[in-house]
Amino acid sequence: MENSKSKNAYENMETHIHDQVESIGVPVKGLHHLAYYCHDAEETRHFYEDLLGLRLVHTLRVENLPSSGRYNPYVHLFFQFEDGSSIAFFDLLDEPDHPGMGAQKPWTDHMAMKLASMDQLFQTKARLEQAGVTVVGPIDHEFTQSIYFKDPNGVNLEFAVDTVDEAYVQNEIDHAHEYLKNWIEEKKQHKSVSK
Ligand SMILES: [Fe+2]
Repeated sequence: MENSKSKNAYENMETHIHDQVESIGVPVKGLHHLAYYCHDAEETRHFYEDLLGLRLVHTLRVENLPSSGRYNPYVHLFFQFEDGSSIAFFDLLDEPDHPGMGAQKPWTDHMAMKLASMDQLFQTKARLEQAGVTVVGPIDHEFTQSIYFKDPNGVNLEFAVDTVDEAYVQNEIDHAHEYLKNWIEEKKQHKSVSK
C-alpha cells in the first residue's frame, strides 16, 4: 500500500513538474536577495564591502515588524552583486528573541558567489587568508571549483568558478529528472532497510 501510494505520488509529481515548467509561463529572473541575521552591522559591512567588494546599496531603518506591527527596531542592509541581486542582513536593536538566531548555521546552508576564472579564485583565497579568514579549497566538484569560508556571523559562503562547457551543462539538464528519480528510489530502499 505504502509503495504503490509513493509510486503514484512520484508519477503525479513528475507529470506535475513537466506541466508546471510548460505552463507557468512566468520566468523567474534570478535572485533578488538572500537575507540573514547579523550580530553587528559595521562588522558585517566591513566584511562584505571592504573584503569581498560588494557595495552597500540600501540601509533600511525599520521601527515595527512589517508582518505583525510589533515594535522591534532593526536595520536591513543590502550588499549588491554586479548582476543587481543582493545579500541582505538584519541587525536588531535588541537581542533577538528567537531561539537559534545567530547560532552556528548547518553546513548544508550556504550562499555561493560566482567568479569568472581560477585566477580570481586564487586571488580571492589569498585576500581572505591575509585578512585572517580560514578558507577551505579549491575543491573540484566536476562542474565547478570552489572555496569555502564563513562570514563574521557564521554564514557559510562559497566562491565558485564554472569549469564545464555547454555540452556538459546540457547533458546534466537532459538527465536531471532521471537522476532525481534514481535518488528517490535509493532513499526509499535505504529507509525500508534501516527500519
Ligand atoms: Fe555550493
